[in-house]
Amino acid sequence: MQLNIAVLAGDGIGPEVTNEAIKVLNAVAARFGHDFTYSHALLGACAIDKYNEPLPQDTLNTCLAADAVLLGAVGHPKYDNNPDAPVRPEQGLLAIRKALNLFANIRPITIYNKLIPHSPLKADRIAGVDISIYRELTGGIYFGQKSLSEDKTVASDLCSYSVQEIEQIAHMAFKAAQNRRKKVTLVDKANVLETSRLWRRVVTQISGEYPDVALDFLFVDNAAMQLILNPKQFDVMLTENMFGDILSDEASVIGGSIGLAASASVGDKYSLFEPIHGSYPAATGKGIANPVASILSAALLLEHFGLYTEGAAIKEAVTTSIEQDYCTTDINPDSTYSTSDVGSYIERLVQGNEAFTNT
Ligand code: IPM
Ligand code: MN
Repeated sequence: MQLNIAVLAGDGIGPEVTNEAIKVLNAVAARFGHDFTYSHALLGACAIDKYNEPLPQDTLNTCLAADAVLLGAVGHPKYDNNPDAPVRPEQGLLAIRKALNLFANIRPITIYNKLIPHSPLKADRIAGVDISIYRELTGGIYFGQKSLSEDKTVASDLCSYSVQEIEQIAHMAFKAAQNRRKKVTLVDKANVLETSRLWRRVVTQISGEYPDVALDFLFVDNAAMQLILNPKQFDVMLTENMFGDILSDEASVIGGSIGLAASASVGDKYSLFEPIHGSYPAATGKGIANPVASILSAALLLEHFGLYTEGAAIKEAVTTSIEQDYCTTDINPDSTYSTSDVGSYIERLVQGNEAFTNT
């Protein structure tokens, strides 16, 4: 298969981890006879530095012309504590999600047996956890009207959702559940928010089209607690943009590290794949960032194009690397393996050339 992949490595550790994902994609191409090409473009703080805007038109054009987008991370500390910054790196990420209409962000939470002792939760609570979070990505409070009063004493962010926005991701979540354990949990705050009550109405109606899938509801505060108390109860979690952002960070550490968690953002036409972690400024350039989330994002990309054997080869290689304790220090504080050591190990495993060990 021929795939032209737009690569937006972004800021902080983004370029380092994305580099490893590309190594692994090239290993897949070599082993399975595919032709992957890459078009690199700037997004986030690096784009602001060069063009004064977080999503330059050139970058958008590169993405629109590509088959898929592989994204690293965006964000820079110089903006984080500066409420007056006129442009922010994150605006680029939000703008690309919107421009490509990537309304569904899918965040799988997988537990590796080897990492169970690394989880902040007790082993019996997490063995066997397998959750797929369906986070709405182009609506809600992230995109509602913002305002700040002239004297800067009152601010507001509007949260709004339309029936159509809810329907399109709900169908995806139910279809995903049909191929999994056939349960969708809608997470909301329907005891307080009008938008949440709309979500409940629309999702309940749609559930009628999927009689084989059970639907239940959870308030987001309770969901945050249940993820810690009994994460095994969840199959597909369906939720709005901000709740999904928060719950997916929480859920990712159940598996031992946010550095393992990948995501796929899809819409009607375009698709983008990125780790759920951020730009991790403190680790930038140190070679300590975990490349696995980016590598697994590449696996999701391949699966999106029907390359399931190839995606599975990457996932197996990642599992082997973890079992072999070939990990960065977020997983094993005593490890001496760098970002590129781990990427190269997975690359070799994917090439089918696992003739070297971790000794
Ligand atoms: C994520 C990130 C982004 C979000 C930020 C960087 C805007 O946290 O992808 O989860 O909140 O969506
Ligand atoms: Mn987030």
